Amino acid sequence: MTRVLVTGGAGFIGSHFARSLNDVYVTVLDKLTYAGDLTNLQGVRHEFVHGDICDAGLLARVVPGHDLVVNFAAESHVDRSIAGAAEFMRTNALGTQTLLQACLEAGVPKVVQVSTDEVYGSIDIGSWDESAPVRPRSPYAASKAGGDLIARAYAVTYGMDVSITRCGNNYGPRQYPEKIIPLFVTRLLRGEKVPLYGDGGNVRDWIHVSDHCAGIRLVAEKGAPGEVYHIAGTAELTNRELTGRLLEACGRDWDLVEQVPDRKGHDRRYSLDDSKLRALGYRAEIPFEQGLKDTVRWYAQNRDWWDR
Ligand SMILES: NC(=O)c1ccc[n+]([C@@H]2O[C@H](COP(=O)([O-])OP(=O)(O)OC[C@H]3O[C@@H](n4cnc5c(N)ncnc54)[C@H](O)[C@@H]3O)[C@@H](O)[C@H]2O)c1
Repeated sequence: MTRVLVTGGAGFIGSHFARSLNDVYVTVLDKLTYAGDLTNLQGVRHEFVHGDICDAGLLARVVPGHDLVVNFAAESHVDRSIAGAAEFMRTNALGTQTLLQACLEAGVPKVVQVSTDEVYGSIDIGSWDESAPVRPRSPYAASKAGGDLIARAYAVTYGMDVSITRCGNNYGPRQYPEKIIPLFVTRLLRGEKVPLYGDGGNVRDWIHVSDHCAGIRLVAEKGAPGEVYHIAGTAELTNRELTGRLLEACGRDWDLVEQVPDRKGHDRRYSLDDSKLRALGYRAEIPFEQGLKDTVRWYAQNRDWWDR
């Protein structure tokens, strides 16, 4: 791997991935939506291209010459997709197809499409393996499933080497404070109330962003064309349990927690079986307790990043 194009690389996970590639030449292409922030790339050696993965003309100029393209570019917040789905379909489905077509025309040897456990819907007990059917329940999940399916189609139809990763809920530094962990931490640090959806019993599987990036890198190196790989987390918690840990980490009490009406169509539980990636040598390394402590410390020490 010598030249890597990271689309959506100014966002939370893409910028961590770009930062982890200290041994290669990196291009970041990002539209800089509300979620993209160039300060996320401070200290990362890269060439930056401001642009949209739906722009075929731009991609025809930028994509050629890269040995690996990893697609993080997406609208990523479920609540925003419920308020307005169109941009999600445009970027997550059509944008993925436009990028794949550019990669096909440029003869890019390897593409990784970064996706989510949310494409499967909700599971009460047990875990999904990669053969589970996609049954998305939110516009966000449906748009990501669309991107995954077109990636698979490019692998089958054109023989393109594109692999798909599906991961659980990420946490870590530089996550936009609309997702539950940075939203709660930044509000608790300010002494403000936090909104807990419904009965707080929704279960998520948490993974540190660095572990997710290591899994993606392994799939880039060893993943087979058209195959899906799960990257599971290290801590399965209800939102109520997570809230308790965040209150403790921020030195606050339950009186700052406000129960609010549940999200429409809120998936109850996600759970991934990642034996397939483990067979390639993957292990999540960061224990949740340590990762959460470090993350809370990062938000406490980097108020400038989120308090603007
Ligand atoms: N955050 C999670 O917990 C999680 C879990 C599993 C999978 N994922 C997937 O990982 C990827 C990255 O997620 P994230 O949390 O870093 O998201 P994010 O919202 O922090 O970042 C997304 C980035 O994509 C850019 N972008 C949006 N539309 C674009 C377009 N049309 N063209 C170019 N750039 C565009 C944004 O400017 C931003 O920098 C997404 O594909 C998401 O579906 C996220």
